[in-house]
Amino acid sequence: MTKLEEANNYQELNKIPEEEKPLFHVTAPVGWLNDPNGFSSYDDKFHLFYQYHPYSVKWGPMYWGHKTTKDFVTWDDLPIALAPEDEYDSYGCYSGSAITTEDGKHALVYTGVVEEVDENGVRNEIQTQCLALGDGVTYEKIPENPIITQEHLPEGFSKYHFRDPKIWKEVDTYYLVVGNLDEKDDGQVLLFESKDMKDWKYVSVLADNHNGKYGRMWECPDFFNLDSHSVLLVSPQDMLAEGIDFYNGNHGIVLIGDYDENNHHLRENQIEMLDYGTEFYAPQTLLTEDGRRIMIAWMASWDMSHVNPIDQKWNGMMTLPRELHIRDGKLHQYPVKEIENYWTDSFSIDNFNLSGEISFPEIRGRVIDFTVNIEGGDYSKFTVYLGKNDRFQTSVTYNREKGIIKFDRTYSGMKRDVVCERKLKVENASEEISIRFILDRNSVEIFINDGRQTLTSLMYTPQEADQIVFESEGTAELNITSHKLNFEK
Ligand code: FRU
Repeated sequence: MTKLEEANNYQELNKIPEEEKPLFHVTAPVGWLNDPNGFSSYDDKFHLFYQYHPYSVKWGPMYWGHKTTKDFVTWDDLPIALAPEDEYDSYGCYSGSAITTEDGKHALVYTGVVEEVDENGVRNEIQTQCLALGDGVTYEKIPENPIITQEHLPEGFSKYHFRDPKIWKEVDTYYLVVGNLDEKDDGQVLLFESKDMKDWKYVSVLADNHNGKYGRMWECPDFFNLDSHSVLLVSPQDMLAEGIDFYNGNHGIVLIGDYDENNHHLRENQIEMLDYGTEFYAPQTLLTEDGRRIMIAWMASWDMSHVNPIDQKWNGMMTLPRELHIRDGKLHQYPVKEIENYWTDSFSIDNFNLSGEISFPEIRGRVIDFTVNIEGGDYSKFTVYLGKNDRFQTSVTYNREKGIIKFDRTYSGMKRDVVCERKLKVENASEEISIRFILDRNSVEIFINDGRQTLTSLMYTPQEADQIVFESEGTAELNITSHKLNFEK
């Protein structure tokens, strides 16, 4: 039996019951999941592959798990697409992307990894780019693999940190961006081009890391046009915090600018964090037929990903897919509109003055989508408590004077000593602020001011802690709209 067949049998026999999972966020059938891969439209559906180790809740030799969806909200499992079983990917089929070929095949471009141990016993990974072709269900790696190797790289560029190709096509040429380290060990994104997807040519350094300003290796690049701007998403490793921005560790960032066609370089004029929560990494996007740029990310942080506080038999989930826009030169992320098709038991309260605490029987639960608009009043702090009972709570507090939102899951039931607090400075904090919360059992995604800023976090709180409480110091003038979500077919 091949490794792929073995893994597919294992997945089939060990599927974790849906009751133990989030209701509408992507998780693996069993085991470990990290980055989204191959997020693409093909054959009337959206496909999502993911970094997958079915055999344990820890990272291991990487497979590509596979799901499809029609609406980004409910997903079907497909057989595993790739297994680490060839001489050029025996240590793992790392992250990559997908596109449709001229002759209608679904092409997966990924990083093949082999392990190398040098004479001093130092372990390295040699990383090359590889191609597999398929029909939306089964995929065959091509005999010419690997298609991009260190031979294609300028002198000094790393063959050990050379991964995560994101492919697209313009007129008759394929392009891809891929993460790399330069001769000074600084992260950079390289641009390649090809006419046939097999024979590739190095073009340029599309963007670089300003001498180590934003971490070290740059993982999982994605490059696209959005509302007349050029946008590069990238996930730097080993960043250092700056003020309350750019947290320590590995986090997704966005560079917005103009693409200089002469030297094939991105002239960026803005760089910022993609998300201000505790768990958000390695985002990838696709373009829908109706022109929407949709992003999905791994809802995890590498440093905290090994923490499994409630002994789940699975580890890792994706964010809800988000539609991206640039407005006033700034990135906005908003939940896909398809989620609205699942709204039920809608409830709203308008022009309500709150001082002190209140909860509503209609706004309760761990699977819910609600928005609070604070329109004014003389309040100084406004807090929403989620997943609350006598023992547990997660709080989101807006300090009006400072213009800061503080997220705090210290009392959420986290049994390990992991990051529990995050703060974000609300951009253009004005009299009005709107905050949308989407909960799905063990997670919360928060969208501030129409998605201008977001905060994504896991919440390992027992499900019975299901109260939602609003609290205002001073009087806050509020509108609240809430929807439960129903996924029964
Ligand atoms: C990002 C990453 C990628 C790599 C993959 C391995 O989270 O480290 O760079 O391809 O995960 O699973």
